[in-house]
Amino acid sequence: MEAAPPGSGTWRIQPSGPLRGDVRVRGSKNAITKHLVAAMMAARPSTIHNAPDVGDVDITSEILESLGVGVERDGSSITVHPTASPQAVVPVEFNGRNRIPILLAGPLLNLVGEAFVPLVGGDRIGRRPVDFHVNALTAFGAEVEVRNDGVAAKAGRLRGARIELPYPSVGATESVLLTAVLAEGKTVLKGAATEPEVTELALFLQRMGASIELQPDRRIVIEGVERLDGASTTLEGDRIEAWSYLCAGVVTGGEVRVVGCRQDRLVTAINVLHRMGARVEVTDEWTTASAPDGLRPVAVSTDTHPGFMTDWQTPLMVLLSQADGMSVLHETVFENRLVYVLALQQMGVEVELFSACLGGAACRFHETNNLHSAVVKGVSALHGADVDVPDVRAGFSSVIAAAAADGPSTLTGIAHLERGYHRPAEQLISLGLDLRTT
Ligand code: EPU
Repeated sequence: MEAAPPGSGTWRIQPSGPLRGDVRVRGSKNAITKHLVAAMMAARPSTIHNAPDVGDVDITSEILESLGVGVERDGSSITVHPTASPQAVVPVEFNGRNRIPILLAGPLLNLVGEAFVPLVGGDRIGRRPVDFHVNALTAFGAEVEVRNDGVAAKAGRLRGARIELPYPSVGATESVLLTAVLAEGKTVLKGAATEPEVTELALFLQRMGASIELQPDRRIVIEGVERLDGASTTLEGDRIEAWSYLCAGVVTGGEVRVVGCRQDRLVTAINVLHRMGARVEVTDEWTTASAPDGLRPVAVSTDTHPGFMTDWQTPLMVLLSQADGMSVLHETVFENRLVYVLALQQMGVEVELFSACLGGAACRFHETNNLHSAVVKGVSALHGADVDVPDVRAGFSSVIAAAAADGPSTLTGIAHLERGYHRPAEQLISLGLDLRTT
C-alpha cells in the first residue's frame, strides 16, 4: 500500500459526548520501522508480529523495496526477505518522507560498502539535525559526505569504535546499534538513549545473533559478528498511542480502556494522571483512566526515558486545559515542539508560550529564543474550529480537543496522524466519536 502524502485527508468531527470503550494498541511506529531496517541485514527472513497499520510502515516498506529487499505483510505480521546485495542508493524521491533513511546508512555500509540516503524528514518539531549519526559513521571508519540532497558514505569493512553522544538521541543510538552489530570488533557507546523502543531494537538484534551488552549509565557495548540470522519477535504495545487514548477518554469526561500496553511503559504518564487527581486502574492486561472529580493543574517537564516523554505532551496539553487552574509544561527534547498550540488556541485552549525557561539552568534551551515553555489556563471552554494538522502527535491533540468542543471541527492534513496511529478513525468511531472521513 502506498502511504498517503502528508497534508492529505480531512476529518469532520461532531462532538458526541464522552468517549468510552476499549482500544487495543499494537506495536509502535518508532519500533517497527527500526526492526524492518535491522531485518534487512540478516542472512534469512525475519518476521515481526503485532505490527501497526501506520503510514510510516508503508513508507519504510517502500524504501526497503526500492533497495531490493522483500517486505511481505500478512495481517499484523510483517516478514522481511533480505537480499545479500541491496542497492546502495535510497532514491531521492524518499527525501523528507520520514526519519528512517539515515538509519539505513550503517546497514548499507555493512552490506555493500557504500550508501546514499536522502535528507530525513519527520515532523517539523525542531531542526532535527543528523550530525550525531554522521559523526558516528565517521568514527566507524566511513568516509562521509553531507550533501544538499542527503548523506553519501563509503567504507571498507567498518571497525568498532568508541562513541559518546552529546545527548542521548534515540535515532543516533539506533544508528550506532545497527552499524556496530556487523562492524569488526568492539564498539563502546556512551550517552546512549534508553527509551523502550531502543531496548526493543537491541533485543531483536540479539535474537538475530548480535552481541549486545546493555550496561549501567547509558553505556552499550557491542561486539561485531560476521553474520546475522533471521529472527521473529512480537512488538510491545505503543506507549504513545496508549497515552493518547487515555487522555481522549479523560478529556471528554469518559473512560477509555487501553489494552496491550504494559504498565512499565506508562509509569511516568500514569503518575501525572495521579498528580492531576484522575482515577487510574491498572491490570496486567489493560489500563483505564477517568476524572470523576475533575482535574488539578500540574507542572510537567518532558525528558528522556524514564522521564515524561516529549510525544506525550501534545495530548497532555488538552488535558491541562481542562484542569482547574494554571499548569506549566516545559519541553526539553525538541526546541520547536510547541508550535502546534496555535491549532489548540483556535479551539479555545488558553495557552501562552514563552522562551523564558520554566525549567532550570540545566535545560538545553535555557537562555535561547526557543518557545519551549507553556502556561496553560484551565478550565478552557473548547469550541470547534477548522484546523490544519501540523504533525502526527499534534494531530491527535486537535482530535481530542475537537471531541470535547462545543461545536463541529474540520481537521485537514490527517495523513500526518495516520503516519503514526493505527487506524485512528476506526478506533475513535468505535469509542463513540461522530467522525466522518473525506
Ligand atoms: N539530535 C541532534 N543531532 C542528531 C540527532 C539528534 O542534535 O544527530 C537532537 C535532536 O535535534 C533533538 C534530540 O537530539 O533535540 C533528540 O532527538 P532524537 O534523535 O532522540 O529523536 P529522533 O530519533 O529523531 C525519535 C522518535 C520521535 C521521538 C524522539 C524522542 C522516531 C522515528 N522518532 O526521534 O518520535 O519524539 O525519538 O523520544 O523514532 C513521533 O513519533 O511523533 C516522534 C517525533
